[in-house]
Amino acid sequence: MKQEKILVTSALPYANGLIHLGHLSGAYLPADIFVRYHRLKGSDIIYICGSDEHGVPITITADKEGITPQQVIDRFHNSNKATFEKFGMSFDIYSRTSLPIHHATAQEFFLSYYEQGLLSEKKTLQFFDAKANMFLPDRYVEGTCPKCGYEEARSDECEKCGSLYDPSELLNPKSKISNSTPQLKETSHWYFPLGKFQERLEKYIDEKNKSFKWKENVLQYCRGWFNDKLADRAVTRDLDWGVKVPIENVKGKVLYVWFEAVLGYISATKELSIAKNEPSLWKKYWQDEKTRYIAFIGKDNVVFHTIIFPAMLMAWNDGNSDKFLLPENVPANEFLNFEGKKFSKSRGWGIDVDEFLELFPADSLRYALASNLPETKDTDFYWREFQLKNNSELADILGNFVNRTFTFASKHFNSRVPKLDELNDRDKEMLERIKNAPKLIGDLIEKYKIKDAVFEMMNFARAGNKYFNDSEPWVTVKNTKQKCGTTINICLQTIYTLAEVFHPVIPFSSEIMFKMLNAKKTNWMKSGIPQLDENHELDKSEILFTKIEDSLIESQVNKLGRVENEDAPDLLPEINYEDFAKLDLRTAKIIGVEKIKKSDKLVKLQVDLGFEKRQIVAGISKHYEAEELIGKNIVVVANLKSAKLFGHESQGMVLAAETKDGNLFLLEPNGKSGLGSKVK
Ligand code: MF3
Ligand code: ZN
Repeated sequence: MKQEKILVTSALPYANGLIHLGHLSGAYLPADIFVRYHRLKGSDIIYICGSDEHGVPITITADKEGITPQQVIDRFHNSNKATFEKFGMSFDIYSRTSLPIHHATAQEFFLSYYEQGLLSEKKTLQFFDAKANMFLPDRYVEGTCPKCGYEEARSDECEKCGSLYDPSELLNPKSKISNSTPQLKETSHWYFPLGKFQERLEKYIDEKNKSFKWKENVLQYCRGWFNDKLADRAVTRDLDWGVKVPIENVKGKVLYVWFEAVLGYISATKELSIAKNEPSLWKKYWQDEKTRYIAFIGKDNVVFHTIIFPAMLMAWNDGNSDKFLLPENVPANEFLNFEGKKFSKSRGWGIDVDEFLELFPADSLRYALASNLPETKDTDFYWREFQLKNNSELADILGNFVNRTFTFASKHFNSRVPKLDELNDRDKEMLERIKNAPKLIGDLIEKYKIKDAVFEMMNFARAGNKYFNDSEPWVTVKNTKQKCGTTINICLQTIYTLAEVFHPVIPFSSEIMFKMLNAKKTNWMKSGIPQLDENHELDKSEILFTKIEDSLIESQVNKLGRVENEDAPDLLPEINYEDFAKLDLRTAKIIGVEKIKKSDKLVKLQVDLGFEKRQIVAGISKHYEAEELIGKNIVVVANLKSAKLFGHESQGMVLAAETKDGNLFLLEPNGKSGLGSKVK
């Protein structure tokens, strides 16, 4: 049989956060299953991934935390890489777009377009945040819609009334980064003529779909884009962090992150070639017509992989003699939600993959996710379902079948594969199932029906269990031991085939099964032919899956939604009620105000507590005019030791709330609470 050559990529995750279960279900686990299957099938396949390390959000994280963008990406690149490894992802390389080889590759593509005269330079007005010293991407500007008055409208479109307008028409624009008012400033950018490629793109997708059957959800996204007609797209940005625009005298501009990230697949393959000391290896996968290229992604990435990236490759191919392949298929998944809602770190909805893998084995998670992939519609991860998948399927069906077979083999056959004797119909039927399983399951994987494939895997284990039950080896072992031997032989052959076909989904457990069998993996299709010889010695048996206790699941369910908001402040250490009760808080009214000359912060207040009048110095003069203070109802700490501030006696303290951006607001009880009332 001819050996297939295949290139597989998974979307490069942003190095600006941790991957979650949704990412694993969307673009990674299905690809890993596909790749592991093909490796067993003997295909010549490489699997490429890495971190996407540019873009504005990374610079914002860096600013917020007072560290450099490089420190941000190092942190997330390393931790995501380690998490993927724990989860059993079998990338041939996990690269990163901050590497020089990627910058060079992306610049080469840009220059090729530039030199072909494809890119047009256009001047535009764009919001500039002087405080943050940066041009603002659309999603960081908010203002009032000039048409309907909606206050959370974007810079050039209103989500509420759907109108499009010029950014100069937006009312009260606000920068979401610094909260200041941004100004429109002229800038120039290069545009890629996506529209020029529309016809060819439609034809490309049509043809690939005819030969390789694309997923309906993917085709629909594409149709939507084509109906709206593809337009020119700006492919540069005003930013320091990213791949520099490789044109002389152009400063402070980088390639738009999406425009270079997709090329990261190519640069990562180049990096792999160098690591393997085979400098032209990448060409064999990217530029040999016989190679099949499959791009695994989540639904939010569809347009970039079915339209923009192919157009970029076409444009390169138009101007160069070495031609790149376009994806044969882009089997995008929908989203995985978590217990009925979207994953949200700030709302504490979901769980870090890393934390998950500290608590539960990777294979349990892989199996649960794989049997519930959002292949045609969004699905949900439920803790109870996860527990059920582990306990009632992995442990009760697969684990139990393996365990009872090994117990029999060791107890009655000295841990050796017994002889296959005369076959009855049931034996023949089971052997037939063994023979058919690899093709049945493999065909589904090839069609990207991975959920169905996983269902068939477990069905096969179920059949093994039923065969064991119906054959009643505990009866035959007493009077017809040869018959019993035949049963156990067939069960062991089944376990071998199970170890092979389950390998893509639960590689760690598959490894243990092979070790128990004292055997090695074989070619996928060959695993349908009984592989264990009579008298072959087995290794010690191990427990494959342990059950997950209710209490462990309950504690996870209880944690949901509890985690504090990411922006939540660090609160002071806890106090008890007695500590609080030491404060004597009273309502009061301001009856006199006097500025303190040497200070721009302090004012001298005369306050009436009802039972007495006092003088209090407060740091609020930047926030209130003297006149507006008179007559305000306030709250004061009445038992604070008096102190001298700038030479003025202060007998207490007034309470005010300080907002994140440093504004102060006096706490103003309404007049009904009177003067001198205790605040508790
Ligand atoms: N970083 C993007 C995301 O997480 C995916 C980029 S895929 C690439 O959605 F091809 F552009 F790299
Ligand atoms: Zn509007």
